Amino acid sequence: MKINHIAQLQPTPTAVVLAFVQDDNFENQLQQCCSTYALNIDFVKQDFTADVKEFQIFYTADNQKVICLGLGKAPKSIDIIKAFRTLFFKLKNKLPDGVTIDIQHLPTEWTEFVVTGSTLGGYNIDLYKTEKKEISPIFKKDGILNILSTHEHTEASIRRGKEIAKTQMKIFDLMNAPANKKTPQTLANWALESGKKFDYSVNILEQQQLKSQKLEALLAVGQGSEHPPVLIVMEYKSPNAKQKIGLVGKGVTFDTGGISIKSSTNMHLMKSDMGGAAAVLGTIELAAKLKLPLHLIGVIPACENAVDGKSFKPSDVIGSYSGKTIEIIDTDAEGRIILADGLSYLVKNFQPDTMIDLATLTGSCVATLGYHAAGLFTNNDELAQNLTNAGDKTGERLWRLPLWDVYKEDISSDIADVRNFSGKPMAGAISATKFLEVFTENHPNWAHLDIAGTAFGDTEFAPQRAGTAFGVRLLLDFLENL
Ligand code: BES
Ligand code: ZN
Ligand code: ZN
Repeated sequence: MKINHIAQLQPTPTAVVLAFVQDDNFENQLQQCCSTYALNIDFVKQDFTADVKEFQIFYTADNQKVICLGLGKAPKSIDIIKAFRTLFFKLKNKLPDGVTIDIQHLPTEWTEFVVTGSTLGGYNIDLYKTEKKEISPIFKKDGILNILSTHEHTEASIRRGKEIAKTQMKIFDLMNAPANKKTPQTLANWALESGKKFDYSVNILEQQQLKSQKLEALLAVGQGSEHPPVLIVMEYKSPNAKQKIGLVGKGVTFDTGGISIKSSTNMHLMKSDMGGAAAVLGTIELAAKLKLPLHLIGVIPACENAVDGKSFKPSDVIGSYSGKTIEIIDTDAEGRIILADGLSYLVKNFQPDTMIDLATLTGSCVATLGYHAAGLFTNNDELAQNLTNAGDKTGERLWRLPLWDVYKEDISSDIADVRNFSGKPMAGAISATKFLEVFTENHPNWAHLDIAGTAFGDTEFAPQRAGTAFGVRLLLDFLENL
């Protein structure tokens, strides 16, 4: 699909999409649009009230298709994206190969969201079906989406909206890929290819280097798998960078739980246990594409948590990159173990000004916040506020949970420096974060996001759960407002 900016309605027949907000201006705007497109306002008003995601198709006297799309009251960016995604997802087979979205009466900032949503509507989840559905005309190579607007900067907003959607769809694919098609090396290759394409550097530490550099925590979790662990280090540096931001993402390509094996119900969902890694990959790719004036470092410890004679076991005491020792109580609490190495690798080698890690870390966080917000943990109020604002703005919401030192007891070990689980079914998301904190060298500007409930969600676009790319738009917004 090509996306063009047009400043005037073209005579060529295309379907036209008009979106409306349910506010005091609604009647007026409807009136104007109806007169532009020669529709009978009385009929339109009967059938269309601009409820969120409502859409209605009308035909003009000369047989042009006009689709009215509702955005509800005071829509936020995510509502606009979802409304357009739903429209294009549901109608894609009924659309011609040319569609014009008339956004002249909408705020200029919405252009990006309109484009992102429309593009995402074409996402196909049938990655491994042998009989592919025929691509709808509008989403084929020569399908054309015209954005009718007289706003300034429309072109730039179109590009931005499109690039965001393109990266998000690559992340969906990565999240939705099953364990037999996705190993630590797959994540490494993704980073290498992206780095080559968008001009940032990627360095992969493979098993030998992990051993010589003593990333013993990552090695321990990965030792039961046929697919060796890797540490992916990505670096994007703009010549105008004033700040150095480090991102760490949990990249467990499949989490069986290890010897502390998970029950089989829903174990298949653990192909998504690399949601933190996916968010970091997507954010760095977009930052490089959009040339943000920053110095960004992405660190992804990637491995598979498998069951095998060689697997690490409960009671093992392992070393780590930081030099601290860890007593393993539960091998299913593996995310925090590999993040320990990821975080200390980042702090020691890069000394970032700000450090954020993302991980599908705990079932406890899902129990607390469900699918509608990720857990936010930090001791820095300003960072908490900035991240929360970015979450509210992008609709990738965060809710802060405490990090008081009283929870430190949960991870104290008799025989090692720390243990990886309290053994108690309480405050699991918090004690997991207290564990991570041990490996941050008291970094004053660190936040942890537990995205276990939000990375792989229930959406209307797939009957079963699917990747959401949660974190990408959130971090992009956060980074742009630094
Ligand atoms: N990957 C899981 C957490 C998870 C749960 C992600 C549900 C997405 C959805 C993590 O590695 C895990 O198994 N955590 C355990 C830790 C426990 C054994 C201390 C959990 O939360 O139950
Ligand atoms: Zn686990
Ligand atoms: Zn896990």
